[in-house]
Amino acid sequence: MTKGLAIVTGAGRGIGKAIAQRLKADGFQLLIADLDAEAGEQAASELDARFLKCNVGDENSVAQLFKAADGMGSPLHVVVNNAGIIRDGVIWKLDSQDFDLVINVNLRGTWLMCREAAIRMRQQGYGRIINIASRAWLGNPGQTNYSASKAGVIGLTRALALELARKGVTVNAVAPGLIDTPMTRNLPEEVRQKLINSQPGKNIGSPKDVADAVAFLASEENGFINGQVIHVDGGKSISTLAF
Ligand code: NAI
Repeated sequence: MTKGLAIVTGAGRGIGKAIAQRLKADGFQLLIADLDAEAGEQAASELDARFLKCNVGDENSVAQLFKAADGMGSPLHVVVNNAGIIRDGVIWKLDSQDFDLVINVNLRGTWLMCREAAIRMRQQGYGRIINIASRAWLGNPGQTNYSASKAGVIGLTRALALELARKGVTVNAVAPGLIDTPMTRNLPEEVRQKLINSQPGKNIGSPKDVADAVAFLASEENGFINGQVIHVDGGKSISTLAF
């Protein structure tokens, strides 16, 4: 007997994979999605999950993902919108494609996923939607496109929480700070070190730190935390000091 079906996007690696691992351990049946088929297949075989290649920024691709979910025989209880990308640079060095791409995946992709989830969850009268934002929604230099996309995800989360509150569905956001994943390992080493040194604890979080917060929001126990943003960032978001 599973706890129902959970969909996790961008679960081929990094934070998404850790979230999928944790939800599996918590007893959910898993459908994982990623643009990278090789990484997704690998994660699915490790987790005994179903994998579907999906581009969350593409409406048809998202529709196919939910069609697959409908055929899996378990009620859709959890959707974690984790897929996200960066195209960093100060605004005068970015072109509009860098903006469009980041907004399309991070914000429009999350919106497309939320719409499909909402249709199903309001009908069944239960659901947990968790959107992975970022501490950068507060504003990060070099990330005008990314910060805008993640601030948008938080606006979307809050509005949808209100739309679904009477239907037994909660919608929350988790905003990670600096987390040790391929995304941050690909940063130039000096930038990475500078970011670590600017943390209140001079530390970097693990994907598991994020997965643990998501697991609580995804659980039945959480019926009354709704429309919130949980920062998993070692306290960086409340820091007013330059460390
Ligand atoms: P990552 O780059 O290591 O993994 C992201 C995964 O998403 C990859 O497997 C990738 O193939 C997949 N993906 C990319 N575009 C996609 C698309 N259009 N459709 C479906 N899948 C797609 O990233 P990481 O670090 O694990 O980040 C996961 C989420 O956490 C992202 O939303 C990111 O913005 C957010 N985040 C990460 C932080 C960090 O320090 N690593 C900090 C704050 C937020």
